[in-house]
Amino acid sequence: MLSTLKLRDFRCFPALEAEFAPGSNVIVGPNAQGKTSLLEAACVLLRLQSPRAATLGPLVRLGAAGFVVDGFYSGNHLQFYYSPRRKKLALDSVEQRTAAEYLQLGRVVWFSNADIALVRGAADERRRYLDFVAAQLDSGYRRHLRDYEKALRSRNRLLKMPNVRWREIAAFDEPLVAAGDALTQARARLVATLEPYAAEAQRAIGGGVGEMLSMRYEAGSGGTDFAVNLAARRMEDQRLRQTTVGPHRDEVILEINGHGCELASEGQQRTLALALRLAQARLIAAQREALPLLLLDDIFGELDPARRNALLAHLPAGAQKIITTTHLDWAQTEIGRVFHLENRVLTVER
Ligand SMILES: Nc1ncnc2c1ncn2[C@@H]1O[C@H](COP(=O)(O)OP(=O)(O)O)[C@@H](O)[C@H]1O
Ligand SMILES: [Mg+2]
Repeated sequence: MLSTLKLRDFRCFPALEAEFAPGSNVIVGPNAQGKTSLLEAACVLLRLQSPRAATLGPLVRLGAAGFVVDGFYSGNHLQFYYSPRRKKLALDSVEQRTAAEYLQLGRVVWFSNADIALVRGAADERRRYLDFVAAQLDSGYRRHLRDYEKALRSRNRLLKMPNVRWREIAAFDEPLVAAGDALTQARARLVATLEPYAAEAQRAIGGGVGEMLSMRYEAGSGGTDFAVNLAARRMEDQRLRQTTVGPHRDEVILEINGHGCELASEGQQRTLALALRLAQARLIAAQREALPLLLLDDIFGELDPARRNALLAHLPAGAQKIITTTHLDWAQTEIGRVFHLENRVLTVER
């Protein structure tokens, strides 16, 4: 569990310290007080990435050079300093040259009121969803993703040059295909593993009787042979000045009873987004010895009581939770430690 969290120059906070309890922690506060930022900091400390920003630059407090997140997680001291020019990581006060060992520790699942974008949004939302959990289940995944993105950026840069030089471009095809094949396989496996968890969660949190959720992975590499497809698309790549096949075009198709979710009602789409997050939580809990830290950002106020209770009942038992909310009206009885956050100050209420 995450027992302490300290921030410096993170988002709106010049400095902040929190001590969390096992079980549930609820942070109550009006809008724009930094509730989401506080959860984001917990995620960055454990996973070195933000669930809501593609890069860490915007997390540095305006006017500051860099941020620090620091905390104790299951007895391990984690420290991360980030500035656009320099990153520093320490595990139990020992500076780390790579993130590999550090990232072995923390498991996180992020639930947010913006999750409906997983269902309604563009395909990159669903790829990010897969990547976030894949990196926590398979320590090699992050490296494949990095290698792929690097080769893709280089290739696309060359495709944008006034004279397209295929000999130079082709030098990136091999690393692109190697990393791309690894991503394709890992994502296909992951979607197949997630599907039963998601379908079960969908039923549990109020998909009507007989509603069957299915998830299908559609490889952007064109299926069978990425290298062959890449070679076959050269003219197209040159015309469009970008790489047009590969895992950066992957899609996850979500269907209810065989129908695409764009036609589903808003309520169904929200239930589905919640089911996708619950599936991550249940999968991590099932595959790892450690339970994930559950970060639930402002989702309870919006759910009807039936779905709220179903959600709470379906979260992995015993997992630590940090929940943000603007009001506690929804909470019935035992909700654990309650904090109040206002004017950048966090106080423990009970
Ligand atoms: N890098 C930053 N530097 C300074 N302030 C920031 C930064 N990023 C976000 N903020 C501000 O932090 C405040 C808190 O945001 P947020 O965590 O979303 O609040 P809440 O979830 O409580 O509504 C907002 O007013 C936002 O403008
Ligand atoms: Mg918020």
